[in-house]
Amino acid sequence: MACTSRKKILIGCTGSVATIKLPQLVDKLWQHNYDIRVVVTERAKHFLKDVKLPIGTQVLSDTVEWAAWQDRGDPVLHIDLVKWADLFLIAPLDANTLGKLASGICDNILTCVARAWDPNKPLLFCPAMNTRMWNHPVTEPQVSLLKSWGYKEVSCISKTLMCGDTGMGGMAEIDTIVQMTIRSLNPWDPYSPPHLKR
Ligand SMILES: Cc1cc2nc3c(=O)[nH]c(=O)nc-3n(C[C@H](O)[C@H](O)[C@H](O)COP(=O)(O)O)c2cc1C
Repeated sequence: MACTSRKKILIGCTGSVATIKLPQLVDKLWQHNYDIRVVVTERAKHFLKDVKLPIGTQVLSDTVEWAAWQDRGDPVLHIDLVKWADLFLIAPLDANTLGKLASGICDNILTCVARAWDPNKPLLFCPAMNTRMWNHPVTEPQVSLLKSWGYKEVSCISKTLMCGDTGMGGMAEIDTIVQMTIRSLNPWDPYSPPHLKR
């Protein structure tokens, strides 16, 4: 499925082991002709040490953001990214950042983008965590709160996780994430909720 205009997607990665799937995600979205940038938390960086991203993928972190601002007039990267992107896709969203988003904490580039996000543009989140974390009673109200703001959940799946446990908490399949992303960017799609139509 090819896009007629080049839409811009900002991917956010957190400190879940599912961040190792970033190359696959970027690659599939590129096949659909989207313009991609990535913001990562410091913990997410750990999972990207040994992965090969498609050449030209811009990965932005707190290091880049703070180096970019030295004086008045310099860019404030997280705000520029909010203006740049047509859609924010947080994949994976770990338990820690889920909790931060739900309580409004913005202490890194990814959470600052989320806090400053334009509510008229789609924000998708893909939870990924151990089954025990997923089953904690704090998870469901936090996910529901994000959804009440118009954020769209790409539901996690049950599988054998990287730690060997089997159960809910695995990040959705990359194909599912890509399909939901495309859908959210297509205003004519009958499955898109009204608040996601642009
Ligand atoms: C090897 C390893 C794998 C992890 N995988 C996950 C995960 O899949 N989901 C999750 O919620 N936390 C996971 N964590 C814990 C997070 O990395 C930790 O909560 C971290 O503080 C998250 O920081 P961030 O939200 O700023 O990225 C993992 C930790 C380690 C050491």
